[in-house]
Amino acid sequence: MPELDNALDVLTASLELVSQRCDDPAPLVYRRLFIENPAIEPLFVRDKSGMVRGQMLSVAIETLMDLAGPGYYATGMLQSERVNHDGLGVPMENFDAFFVTVLHSFREIAGDGWTAEMDTTWTMLIARAQAVLADR
Ligand code: HEM
Repeated sequence: MPELDNALDVLTASLELVSQRCDDPAPLVYRRLFIENPAIEPLFVRDKSGMVRGQMLSVAIETLMDLAGPGYYATGMLQSERVNHDGLGVPMENFDAFFVTVLHSFREIAGDGWTAEMDTTWTMLIARAQAVLADR
């Protein structure tokens, strides 16, 4: 798997860009997620305020940050959330796919500010997350 020495810097720059261009990306991310897979939307029926969705997005991004940097807890987080989500009725392939949905949403928000290096970094980190998840 390709290594990027500056993955954390590039990921951080991409997140800053998104936050400059959008106060709250969560609605866009989840709209895209539910269009891609309508069967997922009912799983959030208890989340009336959107707080759980917002929190889930934050945790997913923090996990990518940790994968890009120190790697203190990302492996444990991914493996335990995979089990929790299995209990929620989220299949493994949808769990992985969330990161791809976030990438596509963020790239759309960032527009012409998004760089090829950001794309490579996100893709590499998602592959890293997928490798952790595939390693039972
Ligand atoms: C398409 C993929 C995913 C789906 C469909 C999904 C679905 C859900 C659902 C339905 C809940 C709410 C459970 C409830 O009502 O109690 C939830 C919560 C949560 N999810 Fe996901 N999830 C996905 C991917 C992920 C990923 C990749 C992560 C992190 C690495 C993650 C982390 C969390 C966390 C931390 C919560 C709890 C949030 C809170 O209650 O504060 N999820 N997820």
